[in-house]
Amino acid sequence: MDISVQLAPQNKHGLLLPNPVIAASGTFGYGTEYAEVIDIQRLGGIVSKGITLNPRRGNPQPRLIETPAGLLNSIGLENIGVEALIREKVPVWATWQVPVIVNIVGETVEEYVQLAGILDGVEGISGIEVNISCPNVEAGAMEFGTDPEMAAQVTSAVKKETGLPVIVKLSPNVTDISEIARAVATAGADCLCITNTFRGMAIDVAQRKPALGNISGGLSGPAIKPLALYMVYTVAHEVEIPIIGSGGGSSASDALEFIMAGASAVQVGTATFTDPQAMLRIIGGVKEYLGREGFKNLGGLIGIGHFDKS
Ligand SMILES: Cc1cc2nc3c(=O)[nH]c(=O)nc-3n(C[C@H](O)[C@H](O)[C@H](O)COP(=O)(O)O)c2cc1C
Repeated sequence: MDISVQLAPQNKHGLLLPNPVIAASGTFGYGTEYAEVIDIQRLGGIVSKGITLNPRRGNPQPRLIETPAGLLNSIGLENIGVEALIREKVPVWATWQVPVIVNIVGETVEEYVQLAGILDGVEGISGIEVNISCPNVEAGAMEFGTDPEMAAQVTSAVKKETGLPVIVKLSPNVTDISEIARAVATAGADCLCITNTFRGMAIDVAQRKPALGNISGGLSGPAIKPLALYMVYTVAHEVEIPIIGSGGGSSASDALEFIMAGASAVQVGTATFTDPQAMLRIIGGVKEYLGREGFKNLGGLIGIGHFDKS
């Protein structure tokens, strides 16, 4: 059964994944942390923790709060910085079969460009995911993802700087995600990731203060799946480039829903926290479904759910 998927058909390197299940940024560290826990080589791909030019310590604690059907996080992009990434992590990735994609974040267009330039052509990196959607930092990131012109500007600037496949990860915290998606696709993105976390908060009533140190955070997990799914479905009607669905996926059925809505692949994040084997389970379940339902590959299923209202 062939469940491989090409996420950057227009790119000279392409981004061919052995299967459509990718570890979502920020929920799988640099991959190395999980190498002893699950057989990471069986994953479709890994997106590393959002990286900035300089190391960041992130936001004040508490930074993670469980909600009835999800998780609120306000990590604030704690990371080791791009130099340490290249020195310590990338050489390990270069020995892996599983494609690793680096999630990048800047406070200015120039910072995104510098990061893309530093990562371009480095062995062990299969693609760049441009994070214009982090809700947990004060400057940059989500600002770029909520304005079509700025989103397009970052995309084309990054594309000029690197030959690597470029995925742009959109924010759901907008009025019309299609408008941003169209702008980013026109600016040359190879692929879209839809979506990052939804901005939310929780209040500790005993202490009468916000439960998160940063007041607000990003909501992930099962609570956001129907929201993310509809965004994928909407954008899939609007752009020609591949889409990765992200938001609350925890079962093969969730992954299949994203694929039927028009996604070519899915990212799984929060589900890994409750079950480190979740992604492998999803891969097995997708394969089993395709076999049982008589599909020879994944292609036939992508966007098959583009239903009419009648
Ligand atoms: C603790 C945590 C940290 C995250 N860090 C990042 C990050 O650094 N960059 C990014 O683009 N997304 C980040 N995300 C968002 C996830 O990659 C994913 O898009 C989101 O959680 C929705 O998927 P899920 O419901 O499967 O977790 C983070 C999410 C969580 C829960």
